[in-house]
Amino acid sequence: MLRVGILTSGGDCQALNAAMRGVVKAIYTKRDDVEIYGFQDGYKGLMYGDFKVLESRDFSGILTLGGTILGTSRQPFKLMRKPDENGLDKVEEMKQTYHKLHLNCLVVLGGNGSHKTANLLREEGLNVVTLPKTIDNDLWGTDMTFGFQSAVDIATDTIDRIHTTATSHGRVFIIEVMGHKVGHVTLHAGIAGGADIILLPEIPYDIDVVVRAINRRNKSGKKFTIIAVAEGAISKEVAELPKKAQKEARAKYPSVAYEIADKISERTDQEVRITVPGHTQRGGSPCPYDRVLATRLGAAAAEMILEEDYGKMAAVRNNEIIRVPLEEVAGKLKYLDPDSSIIREAELTGISFGI
Ligand code: F6P
Repeated sequence: MLRVGILTSGGDCQALNAAMRGVVKAIYTKRDDVEIYGFQDGYKGLMYGDFKVLESRDFSGILTLGGTILGTSRQPFKLMRKPDENGLDKVEEMKQTYHKLHLNCLVVLGGNGSHKTANLLREEGLNVVTLPKTIDNDLWGTDMTFGFQSAVDIATDTIDRIHTTATSHGRVFIIEVMGHKVGHVTLHAGIAGGADIILLPEIPYDIDVVVRAINRRNKSGKKFTIIAVAEGAISKEVAELPKKAQKEARAKYPSVAYEIADKISERTDQEVRITVPGHTQRGGSPCPYDRVLATRLGAAAAEMILEEDYGKMAAVRNNEIIRVPLEEVAGKLKYLDPDSSIIREAELTGISFGI
């Protein structure tokens, strides 16, 4: 009997269900002596022994379904190898559930935090296989995470819709895009949506340069400006402060879009509006690209399980699916390279990065 545990962890994204379906379908094509244990709400389910025994049919009809049929949660605890203040040793609890169910392996669909935990469980002797999910595309070791392209589609659609109203009113619009500490979603949606200015965490902006770009557009007769800003974007001034002072400076505004709107309003006569698509970027059905990627990664994870090649993440590099050791993935963020050619190409088309 092959006993496989599976869980989805961290913020949800599109194609989680498609990826799980890929894993399960590919296992069942080779084996029929399989038991699948779906842990509820991420690592919490593993910790508290909260699971459902799932059958192959539970994974049918979910290719296009957003969210996750298992539920998810943010890391519910600080990673510790010793008991917490209530005497609960969370890592030990997870190990016990795994052993009690006689699992052959655990499949984790997660982003950065979830990969740290997956690697810890590997170090503790569990057989773990992972899949890279997150709209942020900030997971080291893979060119692409599933969820990313779907989020780019949604953020692009927001920018597209803002264009017509911005043009009609001759306003400056700031669209704040998700991405945590990195700017991948903003950069791609910004280019795809024809933003005039793109502000990213990896390239601290100078507000005076942003204002000059707006004024230049006005002088040329284009009365509106579209700014795509990553939620983690930071001004040059603030980036130069120590971390604590940075936090205090950011806390003065509900989010970075408001800070930029304030500063533009102080320096120009233009009307400024803010749009924050927020969690819509993680919602709904996965785009075809993500369905394909998630299915491929899921099938690759199944192959790893059948070959008993554990402790690795199924990843994509140069459109080939590869296996990356978890110790190489855990704890590393994949930032945008400010010197990458995509930035230069965007600049060539007249996009300002506020520098
Ligand atoms: O990691 C995905 C992400 O959507 C980030 O882009 C964003 O910063 C964060 O999650 C939001 O987290 P939550 O859903 O917990 O508010």
